[in-house]
Amino acid sequence: MPGLAIIGLQWGDEGKGKISYLLSKDAEYVVRFQGGANAGHTVVLDDRELRFNMLPAGSASGAKPCIASGTVVDLNEVIEEIELLKSIGINTEPLISKNASIVLPIHKKLDDIIEEIRSREPIGTTRRGIGPAYSDKALRIGVKIEDLLDYESLQNKIRLIEDLHKLPVGDIKEYVKLAEKLYVNICDLEIRLNDELDKGKKIIFEGAQGTLLDIDQGTYPYVTSSNTTIGAVFTSCGVGPKKISEIIGVMKAYTTRVGAGVFPTELKGGEGEILREKGREYGTTTGRPRRVGWLDIPLLRYSIMVNSVDWIAFTKLDVLSGLKRIKICLEYDVDGETIKIASPNVRTLEKAKPIYTHLDGWPNLTREEWRKISVKGWDALPENAKIYIETIEELLGRPIKLISIGASSGMEVAK
Ligand code: GDP
Ligand code: IMO
Ligand code: MG
Repeated sequence: MPGLAIIGLQWGDEGKGKISYLLSKDAEYVVRFQGGANAGHTVVLDDRELRFNMLPAGSASGAKPCIASGTVVDLNEVIEEIELLKSIGINTEPLISKNASIVLPIHKKLDDIIEEIRSREPIGTTRRGIGPAYSDKALRIGVKIEDLLDYESLQNKIRLIEDLHKLPVGDIKEYVKLAEKLYVNICDLEIRLNDELDKGKKIIFEGAQGTLLDIDQGTYPYVTSSNTTIGAVFTSCGVGPKKISEIIGVMKAYTTRVGAGVFPTELKGGEGEILREKGREYGTTTGRPRRVGWLDIPLLRYSIMVNSVDWIAFTKLDVLSGLKRIKICLEYDVDGETIKIASPNVRTLEKAKPIYTHLDGWPNLTREEWRKISVKGWDALPENAKIYIETIEELLGRPIKLISIGASSGMEVAK
C-alpha cells in the first residue's frame, strides 16, 4: 500500500518540508493532516526558499496538495500559497475536506489573550489561533469549511462562538468569498484518499510540528493543540493504519525548540550560539530564535516507539561540521535512576540530568565540498560523520536511510 507518513521526532522544524518534497516527487497527492498555519515548512529550489504554512511543502514537487479534516485552516494562507506554487509553475488548488475547521480572526485574538493571562508562564505559541480553533472544535461550535458555504449554519455557529467568548468573531466576508472560490475543491477527502490508495496511487502524509509537541504525547502544557503523532493520519484522513506502508521519522542532527518548555540537553552558552547561527535556527513562521541543544536519545527513543517509525530521515548533518567534539545524551539520571527511554513528562524531565558521550567532530567543509559529497554519496562523507550517523542508528535501533547535508534540494545522500 503506497501510503507514506512523515513525522517529526523532536520539537518541530526537523526539516520535514525538505524531506516531504523529496518523497513527494513521484507521489500523486500530499496531505496536511493536523495543525494549521503554526507550521512553517521550507523547500529550497535553486537557492529560492519556499515557505509553506498551510499547504503541504511536498506540493512544490507537483503532487496534488490536500488539507484533511483534522486541520485548522487559515484560508488567507491557502490563497497565498496557491500563488506561491504558481510562481514556480505549478497551477493547482488544494483539495480540502468539508470537515476541516476554520481559524477565525477571533481565534488569533484569543491566542493573544490566553498568553497574556498566563503572563509568567506563556507557552510561546505562534499566535496563529491554533489552540482556540481546536478548543472551539472540541466544544462542537467550531466553523467547518462547509459552513462557509451555508449561510444559516454559519450564522448559527457565529452566534454560539460570540456568546461563549463575548467577542466578535471578526470580519469573515473574505473567508466566505474564498470558500466560494475554492468550492469545487471542497470534498469528502476521506473517500477520495481511500479510493486513490486502493488504486495504488502514492500518497504522502506530511506531519507538522513534532512528536514532543503532541498534545497527548508531548511535554504538556508546552505543546501544540493537536496530535502530531502517527495516529493523527488515521483520525484526520479517515485512512486506516493498514494503508500506511512506511512511517518515516525526521530528525535533525541536534535538537531545537521554539517557545517555552523543558529541554534537558539545551545549550545555553557559546556552542549553542554557534549552532544557532550556522543552522540558521530562527523560526520559519515567527522568526523567533530557536533554542538549541545536543541530541537526546531517551526522548528520540520514545518518539520512535510511539510512531512505529520504520526508518529515519536525518537532516542538517552539515551544521555540525567544524565542531571539535559532538555530544550525544545517551540516558538520564533522574533521582539516581537511569532512564534510557523517556516519556516526555515535564516533571520528570525537569529533574533529568543528561549523561553524555563525546564523539570526535570533522572539519568544516565548504558548500562546494558538501555538493561533491551529495554527488558521490555515502562513502564520500567524512569518516567521523559516518561514525556519528552509525552511532545514532545503533542507539535508536532504526536505519537512517536519507541524510540531508544542506538546505537545497539535491543536497542529500542515501544510505
Ligand atoms: P520543518 O518545519 O520540519 O519543515 O523545518 P523548517 O523548514 O521549519 O526548518 C528547517 C530549516 O533547515 C529550513 O530553513 C530548511 O531550509 C533547512 N534545512 C533543511 N535541511 C537542511 C540541511 O540538511 N542542512 C541545512 N543547513 N539546512 C537544512
Ligand atoms: P513545524 O511544522 C516548531 C510550537 C510553538 C509553541 C507551541 C504551541 O514547522 O515543525 P501553537 O501556535 O501551535 O499553539 O504553539 O508549539 N510550535 C512549533 N515549533 N515547529 C512548528 O511547526 C511548530 N508549531 C508550533 O512555538 O511552543
Ligand atoms: Mg518549521
